[in-house]
Amino acid sequence: DVSTVVAVDGPSGSGKSSVSREVARRLGLAFLDTGAMYRAATWWCLDQGVPLTDQVAVAQAVRDLPLVVGVDPDGPTVVVDGRDVGVAIRTTEISSRVSAVATNLEARAELGRRQRAVIEAERTGGWSDGRGVVAEGRDITTVVAPDADVRVLLTASEEARLARRARELHGTADAAALSATRDQVVRRDADDSTVVQFQVAADGVVTVDSSDLDLEQTVEAVLDVVERAR
Ligand code: C5P
Repeated sequence: DVSTVVAVDGPSGSGKSSVSREVARRLGLAFLDTGAMYRAATWWCLDQGVPLTDQVAVAQAVRDLPLVVGVDPDGPTVVVDGRDVGVAIRTTEISSRVSAVATNLEARAELGRRQRAVIEAERTGGWSDGRGVVAEGRDITTVVAPDADVRVLLTASEEARLARRARELHGTADAAALSATRDQVVRRDADDSTVVQFQVAADGVVTVDSSDLDLEQTVEAVLDVVERAR
């Protein structure tokens, strides 16, 4: 089997998106950001006027979601109904509301099916020509691709995660930025944890703790795990 599927899970601010994307780039693999799919689904519900409190309506909207994701790690794209929503799905409004979709079990089942379809396509062809894919999210190592060749849980201390997110959003990690970020990181992970378990590594999943590593060191640590598995 020449194709490689790498599954990476972790909490907000663990650096999993940047790390996974860079790992994919270096290995010539596709990159699947599953969080972007949850964000796109949330954006679509808001765009269509679907109340996020109405679980049945949200499930229906997600089933009908006209979503196309591009998996080139040099420029992953998220298109909904012909509109490029790559920027629109990163607002704090979407971040603060995405858990409504993430905690909807029918929505999870639908997005999980689509994620498995992308992974399967990359295993045999697709953008990567069958080289494979790095897929990152909250439940990839456990639910979406438990049979992945490589499974990594990327963790970091709460302190490190808060500081990273604060710098990302506010350009600084001073007290005000940290407290403005706390709700987004801590509350969202607490909400997400009610439906997916991503704080502790499942059986066979390798933990990489990035608290004291910079991006390059974390990428190298994950590449090491991939090398050992290949
Ligand atoms: O990774 P990112 O912060 O973009 O993910 C956005 C949200 O999507 C998460 O907070 C979580 O609610 C949801 N998510 C999920 N399962 C995944 C990926 C993301 O529930 N596999």
